[in-house]
Amino acid sequence: MTKEWNLEQYDTYTEAPAEEPERQFYYMAKCRKYVKELAEKLGHAPTCCVTTFGCQMNARDSEKLVGILEIIGYEIIEDENADFVIYNTCTVRDNANQRVYGRLGVLNGFKRRNPNMKIALCGCMMQEASVIEKIKTSYRFVDLIFGTHNIYKFAELLFTTFVSDGMVIDIWKDTDKIVEDLPVERKYPFKSGINIMFGCNNFCSYCIVPYVRGRERSRDPKDIIREVERLVADGVVEIMLLGQNVNSYGKNLENPITFAQLLQEVEKIEGLQRIRFMTSHPKDLSDELIEVMKHSKKICRHLHLPLQSGSTRILKEMNRRYTKEQYVELADRIRREIPDIAITTDIIVGFPGETPEDVEETIDVIRTVKYDNAFTFIYSKRTGTPAAAMKNQVPEDVVKEGFDKVLKVVQDTAREQVSRYQGMVMDALVEEVNEHDSSLLTGRLSNNTLVHFPGEKALIGQIVNVSLDECHGFYYIGHMV
Ligand code: 5AD
Ligand code: SF4
Repeated sequence: MTKEWNLEQYDTYTEAPAEEPERQFYYMAKCRKYVKELAEKLGHAPTCCVTTFGCQMNARDSEKLVGILEIIGYEIIEDENADFVIYNTCTVRDNANQRVYGRLGVLNGFKRRNPNMKIALCGCMMQEASVIEKIKTSYRFVDLIFGTHNIYKFAELLFTTFVSDGMVIDIWKDTDKIVEDLPVERKYPFKSGINIMFGCNNFCSYCIVPYVRGRERSRDPKDIIREVERLVADGVVEIMLLGQNVNSYGKNLENPITFAQLLQEVEKIEGLQRIRFMTSHPKDLSDELIEVMKHSKKICRHLHLPLQSGSTRILKEMNRRYTKEQYVELADRIRREIPDIAITTDIIVGFPGETPEDVEETIDVIRTVKYDNAFTFIYSKRTGTPAAAMKNQVPEDVVKEGFDKVLKVVQDTAREQVSRYQGMVMDALVEEVNEHDSSLLTGRLSNNTLVHFPGEKALIGQIVNVSLDECHGFYYIGHMV
């Protein structure tokens, strides 16, 4: 999968080019020299481990980091006892932050035993000033910190880290820049995420994303199409278009285009078999999109449509800009137009001021919409967001009770929903050998449900027909037909 990148020309430059991405290729050439010398000293290629927390966006960002690390000569491994460890962090909920701090302690132990080891932190958590302060005082052994807006500068920052003592910190508040054509190394050869936009303008009152990912910026459709074409030529059959709110894609481009129009363009790419996207904000989901999905041969039968709460009063406090009735009507319209679609969602329990009656409203929506899956989260107070300043935070035991109730209904309705495919034969993209039983393969259906079935490893990356024999809640056991 790794392409050969010719960095030789940049070796001869004495000064860094001002233009991107050339400037980063220049620094990659410089880093490569440094890593080569390190390899001679160590007697082997230095190892690197990139650990990703959080969402698909972060997973894609990590692939960009790995792309550069491979070019400059690191051997990528899964073990954090490596010569270089990067944590690509998430800060959507506090438990992700706590996990990072906990694991940094372990890394410190590794670093004491390996004086060559370098540690870098990046991602959403690094966009918070309080986090940087904490790392500067309590985690002095970290070598490099950068944020979400300057990830394209990774090679340059890495080189600075190689040649300087002490902690290198580079955090930007925001950016309007999108740098194209940097290397990426995919985790899966046959499927890939693709950023279509960055940032978010919605400011849901509980959410830190607009503060750490900045304002919404859409990529030029031509750049997106070119990237998909290249990926398809390189063996990709399924893509996932990524954005915090894909339904507002293209609105701020010089030549505005809708998300539905972009999908139609992507659909035309020959050889591409499946198109997914994430995430849709209900307030911006258009009839045009439903129409395009309905007639598409490639867009998967899955829609992730975050509800967050079923109570109109709480939705207003959350600044979601739809009511319970509008959401239910939208879900109903989608189901009427595309009957075989699976709808999944995100739900937050314990938002400030939420009463048991509000939780019942959420449960009512779950029962009405009948989700194939729902991610249920306990509200997490994020400093700097409007909800964090709300006076009426809900006591922990009340939240827990509501959460357990919601989870039970989610599990029951999902089981019922997923089991409606029992006995059917469907297309599955074979993704990997089953984690727990190596005689089984794991495949993903168009509706995003997983199916495990006996088969040969050689089928990974292919789309095969599978009979869905036994429903086990959120997944199936089946056999190939
Ligand atoms: N607390 C709990 N869940 C949150 N999410 C976003 N912010 C918070 C928060 N402060 C959830 C939302 C979103 C998903 C990605 O994370 O449900 O859709
Ligand atoms: Fe956060 Fe709302 Fe933006 Fe999603 S749409 S990233 S929940 S602010």
